[in-house]
Amino acid sequence: MIQARKWLRDAEHVVVLTGAGMSAESGIPTFRGPDGIWKQFRAEELATPQAFASRPNLVWEWYNWRRELIAKAEPHAGHQALAHMEACAPNFTLITQNVDGLEERVGIRNLVRLHGDIWETVCTRCGERRRNHDVPLSSMPPHCFCHPEALLRPGVVWYGEALPSSAWDRAVHAVEHADLLLVVGTSAVVYPASSLITLGIRHGAHTIEVNPQSTPLSNDMDLRLAGAASSILPSLASVFP
Ligand code: APR
Repeated sequence: MIQARKWLRDAEHVVVLTGAGMSAESGIPTFRGPDGIWKQFRAEELATPQAFASRPNLVWEWYNWRRELIAKAEPHAGHQALAHMEACAPNFTLITQNVDGLEERVGIRNLVRLHGDIWETVCTRCGERRRNHDVPLSSMPPHCFCHPEALLRPGVVWYGEALPSSAWDRAVHAVEHADLLLVVGTSAVVYPASSLITLGIRHGAHTIEVNPQSTPLSNDMDLRLAGAASSILPSLASVFP
């Protein structure tokens, strides 16, 4: 932890990559942990265009369930710690795989959403996006305002879909210029987000993993801080005044 705090204190550009483990202590289940199943389905079976095309009501119900869970969730001390890092570090970028918006709620500004936003809905005909915080949403996937024959879908990136190019470009640029890359609460198994870690290593950033479990990339990182985000991140951020 001493070396990690020193690297954070001296870093010119801190980049943080977060995954579902960052939201776990706010009560939002991770995808591949013991609570990752919903009605015997895994995320990989529901978060796909094919699943939505064949069973739109089931997929919509899963997102409605997640929205209701997220609406009750509160950011934890780890989120606050990331906001403190952004306030104190010369340059700070948070790249998140999460769609819950908890980082925004603690005021983090330089935020890159790789996998979209659960609070958005998208017209399946024209792609128009609208933010909608209604909880719950209608029980069935509603039809679009502009194209009544088209269904609305959640504004998130599904398996097999490309990440938003602007978000991906911002993430790559930040990691290529990072001198510290903090990887928090991700199993590092979903591509292309996980490739940002190896990119950071290749570009010479100090890399630190914050996770109670090891991951396939743990051994490639400079440091592993085994533990929960809500305790490790505040301890790290306390290096700043
Ligand atoms: N603090 C830090 N890490 C934690 C905590 C915690 N309190 N609790 C769990 N973790 C770790 C787990 O050990 C695991 O390594 O968080 C990680 C969660 O991994 P996944 O469930 O695979 O989530 P993630 O890596 O974000 O998945 C990536 O897959 O399903 C898609 O789009 C979805 O964005 C998601 C992507």
